[in-house]
Amino acid sequence: MRVLGIETSCDETGVALFDTERGLAADALHSQIAMHAEYGGVVPELASRDHTRRLLPLIQRVLDDAGASRRDLDAIAYTAGPGLVGALMVGASTAHGMARALDIPVLGVHHMEGHLLAPMLEDDPPDFPFVALLVSGGHTQLVEVAGIGRYRLLGESVDDAAGEAFDKTAKMLDLTYPGGPAVARLAETGDPGRLRFPRPMTDRPGLDFSFSGLKTHTLTAIRQLEADGALDDQARADVARAFEDAVVDTLVIKCRRALDATGLTRLVVAGGVSANHRLRERLERETRTRDARVYYPRGRFCTDNGAMIAYAGAQRLRAGQHDEPGQMQAVPRWP
Ligand code: KG4
Ligand code: ZN
Repeated sequence: MRVLGIETSCDETGVALFDTERGLAADALHSQIAMHAEYGGVVPELASRDHTRRLLPLIQRVLDDAGASRRDLDAIAYTAGPGLVGALMVGASTAHGMARALDIPVLGVHHMEGHLLAPMLEDDPPDFPFVALLVSGGHTQLVEVAGIGRYRLLGESVDDAAGEAFDKTAKMLDLTYPGGPAVARLAETGDPGRLRFPRPMTDRPGLDFSFSGLKTHTLTAIRQLEADGALDDQARADVARAFEDAVVDTLVIKCRRALDATGLTRLVVAGGVSANHRLRERLERETRTRDARVYYPRGRFCTDNGAMIAYAGAQRLRAGQHDEPGQMQAVPRWP
């Protein structure tokens, strides 16, 4: 079965073709990062309009790269949510329109299920069951994964997502959007011993996260340095380092707890923040000492992409799920 995957939930237009016999046939991405950068964040209206411009040419490119035509498609999967509603509608309506014209099934996929299953596209994918840490701009979740569609939420952020905290810290430090990579880069020259920020919610049992207090703590530290006339380049790097260490430490502590609580030995880390090098380094070390193993998607499938939607959609379509004709889904908030 050849499934076209379409991702348009936020600021990346992603398209891919997944073949259930042969694996990923082709994928392409258009990132809107440069377009939104001058506004310091994603402008929803601009995002929708750009998806409209990019999506059909991107689909054609993927089909060309795979040496396929529209007639070769057996089904279409698209991101149905959560995300920006206008952006989601572009992918949903395109998918439904094409599926109607080609008379093939179409299915709306949960964006986080896409992230969760992205490591399954690698050569050496994890076996089920595993624990997944999903860390993106909108979510921070720990999930016990028994199989496709068999997910148990172990814990999640009660306020800001980890990626969101990175993005807000970047703004406080006058760094470019998106903030995660910029904060991580600045943190490299930071002194890890100078400032110490709290590790929120690690002093009590449980697997939930909270990053909003850390954000306030970071702002207070910056203001204090400023008031002391000490906010030079080194101090900014030290703040970035203290912030990154606090987030990474917190995520590692909760992953350790989730592995302890479930007795599982496989950990999947996905979503934009999984690209963070220090987080990867720490999780590698943590899993090595306990005979466990950590799995990631390849770099470009850590952030939003069409391949993860094509893969997740293919699994659900194979299980007989699909949208009813004309019932396109665009669900901005979807637990
Ligand atoms: O999964 P994603 O592409 O989109 C969402 O579904 O949200 O994640 C984007 C998030 C942003 O908040 C971005 O700042 C963060 O992932 N991010 C990083 C890194 N690369 C991206 N955060 C920390 N370190 C990174 N290297
Ligand atoms: Zn995402």
